[in-house]
Formats: sequence, C-alpha cells, structure tokens
Amino acid sequence: MKRKEKKPAPPAPEQITRAIARRVRQHVIGKPQTFFAVVQPGFEEVARDELSELGIENFGEPVEGGVEFTSKLEGCYRVNVAARTVTRVVMRLFDIRLTNLGDLSKKITALPWELYLPDGAAVAFKVSSERSPLYHEGLVEIEMHHAIAARLQRYEFNMSAADAEDGPDVQEIVVRLRGDRCQFSIDTSGGLLYKRGRKPFVTEASLRETLAAGILRAAGWKDANTLIDPMCGSGTFTLEALEMASGRLANAERVFPFKFWPAFRPAAFAHLLTKLTEAARAAKRPVRIIAFDNDAEAVAAARGNLARSGLDTENVEIRKSDFFDPESATIPPDSRPLLVLNPPYGKRLRKKDTGSLFRRIGETVRHHYRGGHAVIVPGLELEKALSLTYDRKILFRNGGLPVAVICKLP
Ligand SMILES: C[S@@+](CC[C@H](N)C(=O)[O-])C[C@H]1O[C@@H](n2cnc3c(N)ncnc32)[C@H](O)[C@@H]1O
Repeated sequence: MKRKEKKPAPPAPEQITRAIARRVRQHVIGKPQTFFAVVQPGFEEVARDELSELGIENFGEPVEGGVEFTSKLEGCYRVNVAARTVTRVVMRLFDIRLTNLGDLSKKITALPWELYLPDGAAVAFKVSSERSPLYHEGLVEIEMHHAIAARLQRYEFNMSAADAEDGPDVQEIVVRLRGDRCQFSIDTSGGLLYKRGRKPFVTEASLRETLAAGILRAAGWKDANTLIDPMCGSGTFTLEALEMASGRLANAERVFPFKFWPAFRPAAFAHLLTKLTEAARAAKRPVRIIAFDNDAEAVAAARGNLARSGLDTENVEIRKSDFFDPESATIPPDSRPLLVLNPPYGKRLRKKDTGSLFRRIGETVRHHYRGGHAVIVPGLELEKALSLTYDRKILFRNGGLPVAVICKLP
C-alpha cells in the first residue's frame, strides 16, 4: 500500500517574522533605493542643489516637477526631515507590465508587499491612468486593495482601506498606469511637506512654505544678512528665512509614515536626527528681518505667526507700513540686504492697475533699495513695467497663474 505523504508543517509565526526581517534587511535596508522628490515645477534645479547639500549624490535625469535620486533609506529620511524646497518624497517600489484587469490580482499578489507594509497598515491608494487599458481608476483601486491584502494575509498581516487625509498613520501607495506599464511608489512624507504646521494664521494668497524657501535659496538669502519683506502678508518669507538662519530643521517633529515600515530602525533614525540638528545649528547665523504690510490684518497675522514660531525673534520687526512710502525703506547701514516681494496680482487687481503697480514697484526698488531682490511678477508685460535687472529668472505657476520670480543676488 502506498504510504500517504506527510504534508510539511506550516512555518511557525516566529519563523515567518524572522524570514521577513532577513529579506527586509537584504532588499530594503541593505540596497540603495530610488526616490522621487516632488518639487514645484520650475524649482527642480534649486531643489537639486539643496539635496546635494544634504548629502544626496546620485541623481536621475532631469524631469519636470521633481528630482529623482538613488540612496539608502537614510538619504530619504534626510530629505524629508531637512529639505525645505521639496513637496514630498515617494520611494519607487515596482514597475510591472499590466494590460488587463484579469491579470491584476495574480501580478499584484506576486509582489513582496510584506517588505514595505507593516501588519495593520491603513492604506490609501492614489491611482492615475493615462493611455492604459486599465482606465477605471476606482475599480483598479479596489482590485489592488484586495490583491495586496491577499498577499499580506499569507504572512498573517492585516491591512485596511483608508483615506490619505485620515492622518499621519495612513500609508499612501501611488499607482501610475501609463500605457502597458504600472509603476508603484510608496509615500514617505505623510502629507505635503509645505504644511509645516507652524503657521496658524494665513492671509489671502499666502505662499507655500516650499515655494518661499525655493525663492529664498534662488535669490541667495544665505549670502545676505538682512531680509526686507515689504508685502509680507502672513509672513511666509519672513518665517522661512528666520527658520533657515536659526538652524531649525524643516520637519523634525513630523510623524512620517516610514516610521511604521518594517525597515525602520528607531535608534538609527534618532542618531540621524541628532546629526541633522547639529549640522543645522552649526549653520546658524545672525540676521535681521524687517517685514511690513499696509494691511493691519496681515500685520497681525504675521506677528501672530512669528510669536508662535518658538524662535528668537529679537531681530525681527513687523510693522504696518506702505511700501511706496519712502520712510518705509529703512535699510540698516553696513547690511547686506535681500528684498523679497510677492505683490498682489490676478483676480484681485484690474489689468490697468496691475501695470501701474508694477511700474511703481520697480521705481521704488531702484530708488530706495540696494542689494539683492526677488520679485514675483506675472507675465512678460509686467516684467517690462517692473524694469528691474536680474541674475536669475525662474518660471513657475502660482495660484494657477503663470508667473516668474526675478532674482538679483545680494
Ligand atoms: C500676495 S500677498 C503676499 C502674501 C505673502 N507672501 C504670504 O505668504 O502670506 C500681497 C500682500 O501685499 C500687501 N500690500 C499690497 N500693497 C501694499 C503696499 N503698497 N505696501 C505694503 N503692502 C502692500 C497686501 O496687503 C498683501 O498682504
């Protein structure tokens, strides 16, 4: 009689955990990964310089809207914590061929999701489809969720569906369907990095912190010692410039999703944070900031934001003044000043008024200010009206409008 073959016993849970930990060490911690730092289009070069300063060395080909780089996980942690010009960082996971919904489940369950997602992960998907036969993004999302959950179940990991807005412990997976390719990335930032969470008061047309930081870098703030911010609004330039000079890290307090990854090592991260904090403190330098606005509410908002910044504000002055009043232009002697201007434009002003506003801005800068300047200007016509010289010009979109910032280095 034929003997019944004995089925091998399933591996014990500790064995599974050990095996995953080994594969995580080998494939995720031990190897360089590819990351994409999303950046305001126009500021790719500025961001790349910042990433280089943070020790990133291997960059991909230039692309619009971001900077690709390869590094160990630590590099991605550095960028998230310290970069000021980056909107968010995603890590590339897999790039597979996917041409029909029938194949999706088999192909997705074959991928090693257990190396990236922790047990109990609340996952949100961001699916975008272009020229792909899988055009129904909602359906793809549902199928992906089931397939990844099925893969994780093999390791007795649970996974639930969530919304990216639900909070810091939600893990977002970005799925790009392009033609017959499907690219998966995992978000490492947990929400957009310009939401620093330190500016409670906003005014109309506030700049994003990442954009303000990009302009300050492009205009050479590090080489100036006095910032003049005459249309300060809620004080975004003022706060970013002060944070930079005070040696504060951009996002040290943030709860990043990578802190829940199987590859995360708390002790190594704490060490990195200490090193970054020390490096930022070493770059601390004395500066003076003079901010004003002709709107009392804007002045109150900027002052409120400054008061809550937790920074040394002794050399920062925020007052109600008119930029066109020659008395306002008090530039301390022996200073190396940088003037930053984000004037009102667009819907809020009539075309005729905008022309004369930019002409007057140009005249005021030429007659009453010296040193460097960075002025945001919407369109060539107004740039001509402004009639200021510059060393660098960056084209970008702000509030949906095509604009430029013209920068003269201090
Ligand atoms: C586009 S907003 C600046 C927003 C600011 N960058 C921020 O992030 O909050 C333009 C600001 O210029 C101010 N402003 C307009 N004309 C001004 C003038 N003649 N003198 C001073 N401030 C002026 C407005 O009150 C408004 O706060």
